[in-house]
Amino acid sequence: MSTRRAVPAGIGSYLPAQMVTNEELSRTVDTTHDWIVERTGIHRRHIAAEGEATSDLALHAARRALDHAGIGIGDIDLIVLATATPDQTFPATATRVQQALGMSHGFAFDVQAVCSGFVYALSVATQFIETGKARGALVIGAETFSRILDWSDRSTCVLFGDGAGALVLRGEDGNGNNDDRGVLSTELRSDGAHNAALFVDGGPSTTGIAGHLRMNGREVFKHAVRNLAEIGEAALESAGLAASDVRWIVPHQANARIIASTAQKMGVDMERVIVTVQDHANTSAASIPLALDVAVRDGRVRRGDLLLLEAMGGGFTWGGAVLRW
Ligand code: ACO
Repeated sequence: MSTRRAVPAGIGSYLPAQMVTNEELSRTVDTTHDWIVERTGIHRRHIAAEGEATSDLALHAARRALDHAGIGIGDIDLIVLATATPDQTFPATATRVQQALGMSHGFAFDVQAVCSGFVYALSVATQFIETGKARGALVIGAETFSRILDWSDRSTCVLFGDGAGALVLRGEDGNGNNDDRGVLSTELRSDGAHNAALFVDGGPSTTGIAGHLRMNGREVFKHAVRNLAEIGEAALESAGLAASDVRWIVPHQANARIIASTAQKMGVDMERVIVTVQDHANTSAASIPLALDVAVRDGRVRRGDLLLLEAMGGGFTWGGAVLRW
């Protein structure tokens, strides 16, 4: 019996033109290149220009993903955009992208799960495709975290960057086994007990202003490795697969040490892990599709490869997805 699958058809990403190295940052922030690299693996990040909004980044990435897929907007009837830095409190940033793409059919909405946002959005879009409610979807992660950073707090402002990535999914019939191309499983978790470890100190119904990111880095680190390894194993298990079957892990790019510790916990060699945190820093919901785009375009990720995506972020939220490229 055939099974409807959400199959990757194209990928694209976008980074703002302005790139800021650690060296440049250390001229305005009390930090050093060596401290940042040693603790995080980050060398540089991109920062959106004045007037450049999350939807602008998302639009560039979406256009590139559609080009890569070789399809027009007429084949897309769903846009799910993951962001914690929307253009406006409402409407959804996804609807701005929808309008800019010239799409007046279908539906578009945002998903808010901070750094896990892309995996959440992928999971949501997959359900719509598998149930036949959508034929083609754009799944986008886009952020302008530079706008919610406290640039006087060296313990957080050095860690993040801006960017966007987009994945085109198309509904196709598979055989129902894990040799099929497409999303084979997704697993999502959250635990609101950890709000105080990573949050933004503002919002429309509290302070009335957007606020700034606050984080207890050590607390986040401690939970990140455990949660990421656990969710990766859970996603693999629900697809009837093991870590040894995976060709590439494409993790959320927060910190090189978190990425390496998680891979080690799962028994996966770093040669099978895509790492771009050195070039992008932590772009929250954009980090996985940005990393995936790099790896597809440089030829590492090929058609038929089994991928594990894993992410964790504020909430806490965490999630994993297994897909065959
Ligand atoms: N430059 C120089 N010194 C710094 C900086 C900086 N940018 N930031 C902090 N320090 C100093 C601190 O003031 C402190 O100094 P002190 O000992 O004199 O008090 C010292 O460095 C150690 O600070 P810690 O916060 O204990 O440093 P730690 O080794 O824990 O590293 C870090 C901090 C990198 C944030 C680490 O905790 C971490 O990576 N946590 C994970 C956080 C993360 O990645 N969050 C992203 C969002 S969640 C996610 O995406 C998974």
